Amino acid sequence: MAEKWTPDSWRSQPIAQVPDYPDKEALADVESRLASYPPLVFAGEARKLKAQLADVAEGRGFLLQGGDCAESFAEHHADHIRDFFRVFLQMAVALTYGAQQPVVKVGRIAGQFAKPRSSNIEKIDGVELPSYRGDIINGIEFSEKSRIPDPERQAKAYRQSAATLNLIRAFAQGGFANLDHVHQWMLGFVKDSPQAHRYQEMADRISDALSFMRACGIDPDNTPQLRSTEFFTSHEALLLGYEQAMTRVDSTTGEYYATSGHMLWIGDRTRQIDHAHVEFFRGIKNPIGLKCGPSLDPEELIKLIDVLNPENEPGRLTLITRFGHDKVFQHLPAMIRAVEREGKKVVWSCDPMHGNTITANGYKTRPFERILGEVEAFFAVHRAEGTHAGGVHVEMTGRNVTECTGGARALSADQLGDRYHTHCDPRLNADQALELAFTIAENLRKESDSRVAVNA
Ligand code: PEP
Ligand code: CO
Repeated sequence: MAEKWTPDSWRSQPIAQVPDYPDKEALADVESRLASYPPLVFAGEARKLKAQLADVAEGRGFLLQGGDCAESFAEHHADHIRDFFRVFLQMAVALTYGAQQPVVKVGRIAGQFAKPRSSNIEKIDGVELPSYRGDIINGIEFSEKSRIPDPERQAKAYRQSAATLNLIRAFAQGGFANLDHVHQWMLGFVKDSPQAHRYQEMADRISDALSFMRACGIDPDNTPQLRSTEFFTSHEALLLGYEQAMTRVDSTTGEYYATSGHMLWIGDRTRQIDHAHVEFFRGIKNPIGLKCGPSLDPEELIKLIDVLNPENEPGRLTLITRFGHDKVFQHLPAMIRAVEREGKKVVWSCDPMHGNTITANGYKTRPFERILGEVEAFFAVHRAEGTHAGGVHVEMTGRNVTECTGGARALSADQLGDRYHTHCDPRLNADQALELAFTIAENLRKESDSRVAVNA
């Protein structure tokens, strides 16, 4: 690993998952233009998120991270963003109630465009083409032309991210996130759910809490926290040329921040300690995530933590574990023990999506019961180890898509073709996302009840 870090020191390291741009001049041109554009987020916001995540690392909060697997140019509609945000806020309210702690809200949005692929090649009916790598790189259409990496897509992704972020900031601050509205939406979900009996009690208790606060004179009209929310953005920083162009020196601290999103993470396929992605990430000061799959050895994890968070700063590093529903007990305890032994401060978050992908009826899907299973196992292991189950990381949409099987409406493999819209991995639909949130809230409730019992 290079001694001195610079925004481009990753360029001299080996790199995985990199697109091969045929037109290098056009690539250099777009990167230099991006470097002159305004930042999408600013350093002070990233520091604020880091401080909130520090509380999560210390056991005083919960991280909800979620959104599309891959944002697309085709699906860039206000309705899509609004529907996502509406479901996400409802999830956050359920989790806040369950945890009795603040929920840190981080979207996989406004920059989640680049995708790592398990194969460089896609084969359909005997025809082989380069794989789709996300709209920021090439096109999803199965044609030779569309699969050629096109640098101009980076400028388009930047502009789309700016527009998305602009709308989300308006939703978060402009009244849409009013807790009374969010609660009404949640009551609508509970009423229509085949599992209503399971959720009704929690919904009633939240109603009671809100009525009580109102009776005490605390309501959205006089309390900004009840009519607005804080929301942060995140994505996998896979396309390092783009990330470098968006990395700027913060004038307040003189330190480098990636300004393409508040939080960036390293994917499971690009976490090699002596490779380019780890090199890039070690120098930016944002809060960062590291995907931890079954092939990550606990001792290797400790080495990565030393490189990525040498000061052991809480809130800097979130470990996003994604093993598969039947592998959590095999891998997570050893990782937790290594981290505890070394006294490393991290947020533990569970991604129950990426280890649970299967193929059914020719579609990539994820059975909802496996997603739930991974989350339940994650909580059980943390309870047993005495550590804080700090967050979840999900792929979801606010739409009524048919991409993951199961859930209260028992979506079958035969129905996958009805509304299968994802550009990459299967996402939870609105109902499934809320069901998951209620289940997690129940788990958090157990954690918070045991905390109260210990403190009593
Ligand atoms: C993702 O989060 O979309 C992803 C590709 O995850 P992972 O790196 O964990 O496979
Ligand atoms: Co994905």
